[in-house]
Amino acid sequence: MKLFVYHTPELTPTDSVPDCAIAIDVLRATSTIATALAAGAEAVQVFSDMDKLMYVSEQWPHEKRLRAGERGGAKVAGCDLGNSPLDCTPELVQGKRLFISTTNGTRSLQRVQNAASVLAGAFINRKAVVEYILAKQPETVWIVGSGWEGSFSLEDTACAGAIAHSLQSATGTPLDEFAGNDEVIAASALYLQWKDELLQLMHHASHGKRLLRLNCHEDLKYCVQTDILDVLPIQKELGVFVKNG
Ligand code: MLT
Repeated sequence: MKLFVYHTPELTPTDSVPDCAIAIDVLRATSTIATALAAGAEAVQVFSDMDKLMYVSEQWPHEKRLRAGERGGAKVAGCDLGNSPLDCTPELVQGKRLFISTTNGTRSLQRVQNAASVLAGAFINRKAVVEYILAKQPETVWIVGSGWEGSFSLEDTACAGAIAHSLQSATGTPLDEFAGNDEVIAASALYLQWKDELLQLMHHASHGKRLLRLNCHEDLKYCVQTDILDVLPIQKELGVFVKNG
């Protein structure tokens, strides 16, 4: 197995696809997607374009859909939800399809949508991601951070490092042996430096600070919890994610 970490969708190669791609947007899209599926959503359909989301979701039965839209951290007018995982309660999402568009996370999911398998990863479901990789043993694995509008984000790379570190511990393979690029080593070092203080790391992160300005402290606390959900969002058709298994 060769593992590659890319900090942003923009840094991800365009001339090849991996056997397995894991898109990460800790704050907050992939945390929200995993939470919605854990709470019983029928599926989560992702869009980079808000107008397309509105058009496609319009064809879906009204009582079976929820529209979630986020730009700049705030809820998009006309949507039922913003992008807080804490809004995805069973009472609200059970049996419904969540149509979601966010500033960066849904873009990174779309960026890797042609990989043989596409997963949505976050700290909250790190173990489920790692178990899938260990069971399937894909030849090439890309972990793609969402960043913020083309820039590096601490939280996504730290989560990439958490996955790399966990794979390394489970297999007993030296990191050098399965690292496909330098970013794997850097991500792992970042995670190991902060693993016991992930909430503090979020307070250093530019998007963490943005969310704190928007009074989303509870979201930060929720999203740094590691391995709390045994749910793996996996793409079953282009842009549509369901619970694996
Ligand atoms: C994104 O896609 O950039 C994020 O999920 C933004 C957010 O925190 O809502």
